[in-house]
Amino acid sequence: MRAVVVKEPGGPEALDVVDLPDPVAGDGEVVIDVVAAGVNRADVLQRQGHYSPPPGASDVLGLECSGVIASVGPGVTAWKVGDPVVGLLAGGGYAEKVAVPQEQVAPLPEGMDPVTAGGLMEVAATVWANVFMAADLQPGERLLVHGGGSGIGTMAIQMAKAFGAWVAVTAGSEAKLEACRELGADVAMNYREIDFVEGLRAATEGRGADVILDNMGAAYLQRNVAALAHDGRLVVIGLQGGVKAELNLGALLAKRGSVAAFGLRGRPRAQKGEIVSDLVSSTWPLFADQTLNPVIHATFPLEDVREAHRVLDESSNIGKVVLTL
Ligand SMILES: NC(=O)c1ccc[n+]([C@@H]2O[C@H](COP(=O)([O-])OP(=O)(O)OC[C@H]3O[C@@H](n4cnc5c(N)ncnc54)[C@H](OP(=O)(O)O)[C@@H]3O)[C@@H](O)[C@H]2O)c1
Repeated sequence: MRAVVVKEPGGPEALDVVDLPDPVAGDGEVVIDVVAAGVNRADVLQRQGHYSPPPGASDVLGLECSGVIASVGPGVTAWKVGDPVVGLLAGGGYAEKVAVPQEQVAPLPEGMDPVTAGGLMEVAATVWANVFMAADLQPGERLLVHGGGSGIGTMAIQMAKAFGAWVAVTAGSEAKLEACRELGADVAMNYREIDFVEGLRAATEGRGADVILDNMGAAYLQRNVAALAHDGRLVVIGLQGGVKAELNLGALLAKRGSVAAFGLRGRPRAQKGEIVSDLVSSTWPLFADQTLNPVIHATFPLEDVREAHRVLDESSNIGKVVLTL
């Protein structure tokens, strides 16, 4: 099968399409014939040598895909050959075929184009696991999403609005801010021009955010704590602004706040299964009736994977970049 590997860590030119043996479905696994695979920031980090796959995962890039079940391994009860599906992967999506545990597979949402669905699972599962399962965002609460124009951000805005929350975002360009407003964001702040702590205070009569979904890590930690409402929950999912920062526990304590950080890729199979199952029962009807729509910035054939990565390197994408097989 054709698959993308990293020759030597580096820029997009480090990526090569090579021929690899087809994967075989192990116990409780299925093999998916991949139709499309999403490109994620994590893939860029892996390409640069900053993010190794978890033990046992494929070296081939790619954390999410759409496709059709090609074969099933021993003990698989949930799927049969020919089922149209989407998969949450620990790796291996940038390939014609990928093996994945059956619990990490979901049906293709009703009516969704399979290419669009290639960019669905990693972002939907990440937003669901962090904003809804971990931070327990409630209707009427206020969510701040950093990087609102990202693959993750565009999904977080839509899901939070669909479940009745108020949403503020940060982004670094007018085009991204406008896209966030169109997706339903109540307040969109250009982080190059506005201090988001002040902007949020002004927009919430001084209350702040009940939940913050953060992609910046260290660079935003102190300001995020300052932006939290009482009983607020800060969930860090990205470290684009570094890993080490000073945390004022007094400020956190005064707000009865909490800070958590979660990675999805390395979670045990059972946890991923719980997330996928909860995600599907809670949101698949909303994808089917198009309340929720994955935002696709661009699609590229697998051969143009370097071009696809250049888009993420430049951060010019609004929503997802997707590879087609
Ligand atoms: N923990 C997990 O399980 C998990 C899973 C998936 C993704 N993630 C993380 O979630 C984040 C988004 O992932 P993605 O694949 O959707 O990436 P992406 O589309 O490449 O988005 C990254 C975003 O970061 C924004 N950004 C850069 N500097 C910023 C700043 N100072 N303040 C606010 N935003 C800033 C960029 O927007 P501008 O152009 O506006 O600067 C860009 O939209 C990444 O950090 C990724 O590692 C974590």
